[in-house]
Amino acid sequence: MNAADFLALAASRRSVKPQQFAPETLADDVIRSALEAANWAPSHGCTEPWRFAVFTGAGKEVLIEKSGALLMAHLPPAEALDRLSKISDNFRRSSHLVAVAQYRDPASKVPEWEELAATACAVQNFALALHAAGGASYWGTSGIVPLPGAAEALGFGPGCRLIGVLFCGRPAAPGRPFPRNTSAAEKTTWNS
Ligand SMILES: Cc1cc2nc3c(=O)[nH]c(=O)nc-3n(C[C@H](O)[C@H](O)[C@H](O)COP(=O)(O)O)c2cc1C
Repeated sequence: MNAADFLALAASRRSVKPQQFAPETLADDVIRSALEAANWAPSHGCTEPWRFAVFTGAGKEVLIEKSGALLMAHLPPAEALDRLSKISDNFRRSSHLVAVAQYRDPASKVPEWEELAATACAVQNFALALHAAGGASYWGTSGIVPLPGAAEALGFGPGCRLIGVLFCGRPAAPGRPFPRNTSAAEKTTWNS
């Protein structure tokens, strides 16, 4: 792949929501390969702080069950049930859900924000690789993500913070262009 091909790939990646997914599922190997790409992200001190939990097939129902328990523990019942119903629809419409956590060793000298930044790099590698393979994803940060205890409930170990759920599927239609508000040049100063 040359530089122009890479720019075209990066520019054509779109966040695609579950309502825009085709009914068919992605092969597990497509997700595995995107996770391999994620694992090539950089990290300060090579801490590799990204952690993932994949839910697909019957695993999606497990995720719905765990989400229900979390929502009921933290919200008034009516609100919890309303949110659960929306979340469940979107989980079921997705081929795979990839929960993303950021790990930090409490004894580490690396500040937490750097671990978060490294994990975000891993997510972008994942998104680009999935797009290259004909899939798509969107990074959701609402629903269960901000709830206390969410990382533990999804099976992540101590020191992990849930930072998102990647809703993955095959787009029903090609992504529409989504122009940036300002150009790269407007966000950059050059000193030469
Ligand atoms: C850290 C982060 C959190 C996001 N959280 C949400 C979210 O909770 N809900 C949502 O609809 N989109 C979310 N998005 C997706 C953005 O809305 C999306 O990237 C943006 O609209 C630009 O579209 P594009 O990704 O197709 O270029 C998130 C993106 C990032 C990077």
